Amino acid sequence: MAILNIVKEGDPILRKECRPVGEITPRIIRLLDDMRETLIDANGAGLAAPQVGVLRRIAIVENDGQFIELINPEIIAREGVQNEIEGCLSVPDVWRITERPEKVTVRATDRNGKEFTATGEGLLARAFCHEIDHLSGKLFTDEAVRILSPEEVKEMLG
Ligand code: NI
Repeated sequence: MAILNIVKEGDPILRKECRPVGEITPRIIRLLDDMRETLIDANGAGLAAPQVGVLRRIAIVENDGQFIELINPEIIAREGVQNEIEGCLSVPDVWRITERPEKVTVRATDRNGKEFTATGEGLLARAFCHEIDHLSGKLFTDEAVRILSPEEVKEMLG
């Protein structure tokens, strides 16, 4: 495994549409492994393939120390609304309030080629939305409903 370079806002790759994954090749498996290591190293909540320079529909979301690997993910159900704090490894030191569904269900393929669904509420729902947005070239700053002051960030992040 390897720690990959995380591209930062301003890099045009973050604004591009990702291509779906067809066959799950050893290269895709290696990418998933490297993305996981990169996410652990960066201590983030999620990571999408374009953030490591790969325009494929792949993302990883951390949930209670487990990693949910999403290949060709799609949000198939949304419920409720939340306005909470969000950040991104590609936009360092920026925290904003975004409006997201309180609960989402995602359908995706795992590394074995099996389709599955996962439902997340709160932080996990935000992470699913945030990472899947990356696959369409969207950043959380596009969606932000309010910019936080440094004092507010400190308070909300503890
Ligand atoms: Ni992000």
